[in-house]
Amino acid sequence: MSPFSLEGSTAVVTGGARGLGEGITRSLLDAGADVVVMARSGPGEALTRHADGLGRELRFEPVDLGDTASVESAAERVLAASDVHVLVNNAGTQQRHPAVDFPLEDWDAVLQVNLRAVFRLCQLFGRPMLDRGAGKIVNVASLLSFQGGITVPAYAASKGAVAQLTKALCNEWAGRGVNVNAVAPGYMATDMNTALLADPVRSEQISARIPAGRWGSPDDLGGAVVFLASPAAAYVHGQVLAVDGGWLAR
Ligand SMILES: NC(=O)c1ccc[n+]([C@@H]2O[C@H](COP(=O)([O-])OP(=O)(O)OC[C@H]3O[C@@H](n4cnc5c(N)ncnc54)[C@H](OP(=O)(O)O)[C@@H]3O)[C@@H](O)[C@H]2O)c1
Repeated sequence: MSPFSLEGSTAVVTGGARGLGEGITRSLLDAGADVVVMARSGPGEALTRHADGLGRELRFEPVDLGDTASVESAAERVLAASDVHVLVNNAGTQQRHPAVDFPLEDWDAVLQVNLRAVFRLCQLFGRPMLDRGAGKIVNVASLLSFQGGITVPAYAASKGAVAQLTKALCNEWAGRGVNVNAVAPGYMATDMNTALLADPVRSEQISARIPAGRWGSPDDLGGAVVFLASPAAAYVHGQVLAVDGGWLAR
C-alpha cells in the first residue's frame, strides 16, 4: 500500500463541509479515508456525490464549536460509532475590529471556536489514540500564527496559540504513537476572506506579494493534510507546515 494511502482509516474534519474544510474532506476521501464532518452545516450534494462515487462513507455530526457541551456530546457520539484515526481541527472563525475597541464577547467567541474547542477535541479524540498507540492530529493554524495582522487580535492570538498547542501536544504524545502537526494556510479564497476578495486593490496587492502569484484555493490545502495524516509522515511531529504560495519566505 502507498505510504500516502489512508485506506481503512476514519477521519474527523471540523467544518469539513465548506471552504478549506471541504477541500480537506475531498482530499481525505480521495486518499481512501472515510470522513465524519463535524460542523453546523452538513455536506452539500457535490461532496456527498464525490464520496459515493469513491465508495467511501461520509457522515455528518452536527456540532456548535462555540459551545463546549455541544463539542463533548458530538465527540462522544462520533466515538461511539467508530474508531477515529485522524482528527483535523479545521473549523475557525474571524472577527475584525480595531484592537482598542475589540469587544470582549467577540474575543471570547473567537477563542472558544479557534482554541478551546480545538484543545477539547484533541483531548477527546486523542485519548483513544493514545490508548491504541496510534493516531494523527492535524490542526489548522494560519499565517497569523507567525504574524500579527491588523484588526484581528483575537484571531492572531488564537492561531498563535494553535501553533504552540501543536508543539505542546507533540512533546507529550509523539512518544506514544500520536503525531500532532499543523498546516498554516496563506491567503485562501473562501468565505472568510469575502471582504478582502471584494476589494480589487487589496486583493491584487496580496496576489502581488505572494511568490506563487495567486491566492490559494481549498484544493491547495488537502494534499498537505493527507501527507500529515498518512503513514508517510510517521516521523513528522510538532511541525507547522505553511501552505501559503511562498508568502512567509518573502
Ligand atoms: N481562508 C484563509 O485565507 C485562511 C487562512 C489561514 C487559516 N485559515 C483557517 O482555515 C480554517 C478554515 O477556514 P475557511 O477559510 O474555510 O473559513 P470559512 O469559509 O469561513 O469556513 C469556516 C468553517 O468553520 C466552521 N465553523 C465556524 N464556526 C463554527 C462553529 N461555531 N461550530 C462548528 N463549525 C464552525 C464552518 O462550518 P459551519 O458554518 O458549517 O458550522 C466552516 O466550515 C479556519 O481555521 C481558518 O482560520 C483560513
